[in-house]
Amino acid sequence: MSKRVRKAVLPVAGLGTRVLPGAKTTPKEMLNIFDRPILSYIVEEGRAAGIEHFVFVTGRGKGAIEDYFDHHPELESQLEAKGKTEILAEVLRDLARPGEMSFVRQMAPLGLGHAVWCARDIVGAEPFAVILPDMLMAAETPALAQAVAAHDQVGGNIIVVEPVPQGEAHKYGIVALDGRDGRLNRMTGMVEKPAPGTEPSNLFISGRYVLQPEIFEILETQPRGAGGEIQLTDAMATLMGRQDFHALEYEGTTYDCGDKIGLLRANVAFALRRPDVAEAARAAIRALL
Ligand code: UTP
Repeated sequence: MSKRVRKAVLPVAGLGTRVLPGAKTTPKEMLNIFDRPILSYIVEEGRAAGIEHFVFVTGRGKGAIEDYFDHHPELESQLEAKGKTEILAEVLRDLARPGEMSFVRQMAPLGLGHAVWCARDIVGAEPFAVILPDMLMAAETPALAQAVAAHDQVGGNIIVVEPVPQGEAHKYGIVALDGRDGRLNRMTGMVEKPAPGTEPSNLFISGRYVLQPEIFEILETQPRGAGGEIQLTDAMATLMGRQDFHALEYEGTTYDCGDKIGLLRANVAFALRRPDVAEAARAAIRALL
């Protein structure tokens, strides 16, 4: 029986250059999708998967993240005094539960692998999840819960994947599989940003992982890879020599909020998914078209 996944690492130290200038003073993970910051959806997804502790790997200029999950006494008492109880309830819903969140600084954005390594002491010697917060996933069973269920089933390391849009494989980490039967398949390899035409499958690593703690030992000495960054994909490829990896083709839709058009798509899609505003959103979009 594999150990339970209780902790999630959320790397949020990147510079967000693809969504500048918006991400200059607002961390890109705090940009709004309809009426809530991206991280509000991400923490909700983590809680739904049974995550009890969120480890944010932050950097300079990302203080708004920590503040968002803490009390804002003036705001809360104003809302209370004015009887705005519904809005108050929404604000309070996102607060951290006592002891639920830790924040560690990456100090220099050396890459995703390095960001994950910065969380090693807080995670300790247990399996953990990694959630890339700029990938928002809309799914009936939240994406991370699907990954945790797969981990309960087969143990080892689980990587959530999905079909890559035509011609875009060179932008992502791509997996190689030992045959394909159903949605959960054993992996034989992976490569970060393959040269066009060399990708080993059409499945890309889309931003949810369950990893074993041995990944930290590998990351400690992981040399820089694609883009001059310390890549999580390279460290996982090494760990695959010693441990099982399965790719899970999850059921749901992904929105890449690290990209301007992806952010726009997510705003539209998440407004349309909300029963209370869907009709007004549809009317507003139709009028624009
Ligand atoms: P991205 O490559 O999408 O983020 O990394 P980025 O570097 O902010 O984006 P651009 O290319 O400049 O627009 C995926 C996730 O990993 C985090 C990012 O914050 C993002 O959530 N990350 C990336 C770190 O925390 N540290 C890093 O060194 C790199």
